[in-house]
Amino acid sequence: MKKVIVSVIFLIYFTLGSFAQDIVNDDFVVTHGPYLQNLNSTGVTIIWTTNKPAIPGVILTSKDGTKRFIRNSHEGKIDGGGAFHKVRIEGLVPGENYQYNVNSVQVLKYQAYKIYYGDTLVRKAESFTTPSGKSEKVNFTVVNDVHELSGKLASYLKNGNYADQDCYFFNGDMVNFLQNTDQLFKGFIDTATAYFAARKPFYYVRGNHETRGFLNQDLKNFFDYKDGRFYYSMDLGPVHFIILDCGEDKPDNNRYYYGLADFDTYRSEELEWLKKEVKSEEFRNAKYRIVLVHFPIVKAEKQGYGTKFLADHFGPVLQGAGINLMMSAHIHRNAFYDADKSGFGYPVLVNSNNSFVEVTADNIGIKAVVKDVSGNQISEYSFK
Ligand SMILES: [Fe+2]
Repeated sequence: MKKVIVSVIFLIYFTLGSFAQDIVNDDFVVTHGPYLQNLNSTGVTIIWTTNKPAIPGVILTSKDGTKRFIRNSHEGKIDGGGAFHKVRIEGLVPGENYQYNVNSVQVLKYQAYKIYYGDTLVRKAESFTTPSGKSEKVNFTVVNDVHELSGKLASYLKNGNYADQDCYFFNGDMVNFLQNTDQLFKGFIDTATAYFAARKPFYYVRGNHETRGFLNQDLKNFFDYKDGRFYYSMDLGPVHFIILDCGEDKPDNNRYYYGLADFDTYRSEELEWLKKEVKSEEFRNAKYRIVLVHFPIVKAEKQGYGTKFLADHFGPVLQGAGINLMMSAHIHRNAFYDADKSGFGYPVLVNSNNSFVEVTADNIGIKAVVKDVSGNQISEYSFK
């Protein structure tokens, strides 16, 4: 079982924190991140990598100056010894701003009876704010189908509204496939980190391309998903979000899956979860309900196998459930289906591979603005 360790004995790190530098020595550096994951009103996960093995920790500073040093442990052992670091922090106060420094203690030797430590690297302070459970407003940006074109992602982020955004959704196909970690880091995580991800979280919705390649089975390790699943629900401001996992686009027996696809079974399990989810108190009591799913779930004549599976099985469950908006991707063009055109009674906004969407949900309603790579408005939609 995971345990969050808070210790006051690491005072030396606080001292180091006051002299925090990007690079303490040239040989031992943070190579990716830090980026925030799974931020909720009482917890956050911080992820980064170093070029050499290390024991990770986070120095967390509250508004009143109180400091905590956090390390995680599993089954009785403090996490660490590798180059990929993931620290979960719990016990945060809703609606509060925190500063943090990621702290990496280099491991020179990790043996049964001899462990040698090297330098301690304290990264510059970053900050984040936990969502307030009482907030009546949320602003978020949706990006999809970047397909590792990080320059395009940079344009979206540079030309988008950063200051007012609470979080970002990457709505699938951020990579072409997953064969090595560079596809994730160079493909989009490093760019996201450069623009926002050290201070605001992104939620990575799996598309069909994320299911391909040897590394696909490790995808979850590089992020942190609520409940440890690619499909889940969460509340932010007045919105109850439903995040769905679309699976592959072709039938499981397609020759290019080489007998390794089992998405019909998986989607059927997800469907059972969805049936319970739409009956939950959180879902029914929410002011707004927004679904994020890579494949648009609409009734249409010609559909790929995966899209049709969702339309045949998920659409009827969502129909009449009070969905205010579905946001989708995949088809690489902008499209909008009115509530009476989607076939399931909810509006569907499909974002292209050359645009991003900024959404505000507040007391007035939901407003979605679609912008091109230069930040020019393409279209605007309002939902009451
Ligand atoms: Fe796709």
